[in-house]
Amino acid sequence: MIKSSKILGRSAAAFDLARAIVKAAPTDASVLIIGESGTGKEIVARALHNRSNRSEEAFVAINCGAITPTLAESELFGHEKGSFTGAASTSVGCFERANNGTLFLDEVTEMPLAMQVLLLRVLESGSYHRVGGSALQKVNVRIIAATNRDPNEAIKAGSFRSDLLYRLAVFPIRVPSLRERTPDIAYLAQRFLDEFNHQETTQKTFAGDTLKNLETYNWPGNIRELKNTVMRAFILADDKLSIAPLSPVFKACPTEVTQGYLKIPIGTPLTNAQQAIVAATLDHYDGDKQLAAQALGISTKTLYNRLSQFQSASKD
Ligand SMILES: Nc1ncnc2c1ncn2[C@@H]1O[C@H](COP(=O)(O)OP(=O)(O)OP(=O)(O)O)[C@@H](O)[C@H]1O
Ligand SMILES: [Mg+2]
Repeated sequence: MIKSSKILGRSAAAFDLARAIVKAAPTDASVLIIGESGTGKEIVARALHNRSNRSEEAFVAINCGAITPTLAESELFGHEKGSFTGAASTSVGCFERANNGTLFLDEVTEMPLAMQVLLLRVLESGSYHRVGGSALQKVNVRIIAATNRDPNEAIKAGSFRSDLLYRLAVFPIRVPSLRERTPDIAYLAQRFLDEFNHQETTQKTFAGDTLKNLETYNWPGNIRELKNTVMRAFILADDKLSIAPLSPVFKACPTEVTQGYLKIPIGTPLTNAQQAIVAATLDHYDGDKQLAAQALGISTKTLYNRLSQFQSASKD
C-alpha cells in the first residue's frame, strides 16, 4: 500500500542517517547497510541510488540468500546458449542488467561461499566472462549491499569472507532500530495514516491514547511492524484508529537467536522457556501475531492470552 521511498523521520538518529545518505550517494564507493529487519535498509539503498548520478540507470536488486551455489555464476554473469544443461537460450546476468547503474546485494551475509569468490573476483578485476562465453565484459556497476546480521559474526562463523567485507564496506551505514528513534514513532505512524487516507480517500484519525500506546512498545519488527500495525488498525476503523497498549517482547531468560535457531540454557524453567520461544517467534515474524500464532500451532486468541499472562508475570 505504502509506496514511499523517502527517509521519513525527525529524530537525531534519522537526521544522522539522512546525512550519511547525502554524503555517500554521489560517490561510487561501495556501501554496506547494516540494520535489524524492518528498519528500512531497502529504502536506504534506493535513496542512495536515486541521489546518485546513476539515478537514470538501472537499480537491480538480488536476494543473495535465495541463490543456489550452482546457479550463482550464471545469475551474476549470465550464460551463453547451450553452455550447460538447461541453458536453452542466452541469459543476461545481474551485472550486465545493472551496468552503469546500481547492483543491490540484499542479505549479503547469506551469500553462498562460492558466490563470494566470484563476486570478489569481478570487483577486483572490473570484468568477467559470461558462463560459456569468451568475450570479456567490462563492469561499471556501483555496489550497495545490506545485511541484518553483524558481518563480523558471520566472518567468525566462517560463512562470510573478510576480504569481501572490506570491499563492500568502504562506506558502512548503520540503520537505527525504531527503539533508538522513539521520537519518530508517532511521526511515522501519522505519516503512514496520512498516506493510507490519501490512497483510500478517507479522513480517519487516531483515537485518544493510540499514539501514546505506540510509543511505549519496543517494536522488534521496527518500521515494518509499525506500518503493518497502523494498516491493520486503519482497515478495522470506521473513522478512529484505536490501538490498545501492545505487549512488549521481553527476554524471559538469557537466550540467543542465530540463523533461525533459539538457544535456551538447560535448567530454564518451562514457563520462561515458553516465553522465550513466543518472544523469538514474534520477533521472527516482525511482531505479526497471526503469523507467529500459526507457526506456534496455537490460535491468535491463545497467543494474546499467553502474552498478557507473561506480561502480568513480569510485573510480579
Ligand atoms: N524511513 C522510512 N520511512 C517510511 N517508510 C519506511 C521507512 N523505513 C522503512 N519503511 C517501510 O518499512 C518497511 C520495511 O522497510 P525495508 O523493506 O526497507 O526494511 P529492511 O530493513 O530491508 O528489512 P529486512 O531486513 O526484513 O529486509 C517497508 O514497507 C518500508 O516502506
Ligand atoms: Mg530488506
